[in-house]
Amino acid sequence: MQYQNDLILRAARGEAVERTPVWLMRQAGRILPEYRAVREKLSGFIELCTTPALAAEVTIQPVDILGVDAAIIFSDILVIPEAMGLPYEMQESKGPFFPKVITSSADIDKLLATDAADHLKYVYDAIELSVKQLNGRVPLIGFAGAPFTILAYMIEGQGSKTFSKARRFLYTEPVLAHRLLEKITLATIEYLKRQVKAGAAMYQIFDSWAGVLPPDQYREFSLRYIKQICEAVPQVPRTVFSKGAFFVREDFTDFPCETVGLDWNMDIAESRKIIGPGKTLQGNMDPCALYLSEDQIRVKTKEMLDAFAGSRHIANLGHGLYPDTDKTKVKCFVDAVKELSVKA
Ligand code: CP3
Repeated sequence: MQYQNDLILRAARGEAVERTPVWLMRQAGRILPEYRAVREKLSGFIELCTTPALAAEVTIQPVDILGVDAAIIFSDILVIPEAMGLPYEMQESKGPFFPKVITSSADIDKLLATDAADHLKYVYDAIELSVKQLNGRVPLIGFAGAPFTILAYMIEGQGSKTFSKARRFLYTEPVLAHRLLEKITLATIEYLKRQVKAGAAMYQIFDSWAGVLPPDQYREFSLRYIKQICEAVPQVPRTVFSKGAFFVREDFTDFPCETVGLDWNMDIAESRKIIGPGKTLQGNMDPCALYLSEDQIRVKTKEMLDAFAGSRHIANLGHGLYPDTDKTKVKCFVDAVKELSVKA
């Protein structure tokens, strides 16, 4: 595939770039009135995800409106539990809810593994359509949740501040936990392979709840499965974003991925020192900084760019955009990265 703008792919591979590429987690979503207009006509979030023409439309919106250097396919990490046999609901202003959760060995036996990927044709169709409509303007990013974050939702049944049910399961039922993680891993490998086949030019693994685990458990129950996925799907650049997992940054030095996501709690210079020069780092402005004035946003953006000091970098926030962020402020951040990172 020939791209008009392939900055993000070059940055991911550590090749020369004229300026730092930029995209935002949750760039397709409620910050855009254009997204809300599409969403209002439907019964809900899940209908949007499962209707490829509409999913493609909202996938491309941020490229047109914000000028980001990549699209990310509009979907959710929770389509994997759904395809494995645990359907979810997306409750307005509350978030995801699973009517059934995993409580026993028999529950795990009933879940699909590799075959779950057969049930996600709507995602592959949305990717194909998005790539066709993008027509080479920018690359499309595929994604999946990390097995531990998916397990957390399958056990907990909804979001949680502590994920204490999921963590309790790791302590009290480690054998079952590994069986469940193994199944999620197999499903995710096949799912990402098919995303790449459909046209995803790179992918990101979101470990949103990494930060709730102690380091030894993080290595045992999360990192080894992410590694298994990255090793099984090496065809395109891979990004791992372990939110809150500052305590395992040294493990990424030799990890089978090109890019490591930083959240806004992680010091940039320290992260570079710990991870070393061999990885692209992605991030990491605090999404809350986008409530500042445009002048102040430019100052904060400059500080972030300076801290990366011209090393391998993909600009982003340290986590997803907050839904009440003003779209002009988001555009201000994107424009500031583009202007202030130009190589002399
Ligand atoms: O623009 C993009 O980033 C692409 C689309 C995308 C969504 N979810 C759409 C979405 C992506 C990459 C995700 C990933 C995702 N989903 C994660 C990992 C990233 C992260 O934020 O840590 C997680 C943990 C989920 C699970 C999830 N989905 C939650 C907890 C919620 C509710 C919170 C909220 O913001 O409402 C969702 C819903 C969701 N996923 C929305 C969107 C646009 C909002 C629902 C809506 O618009 O109706």
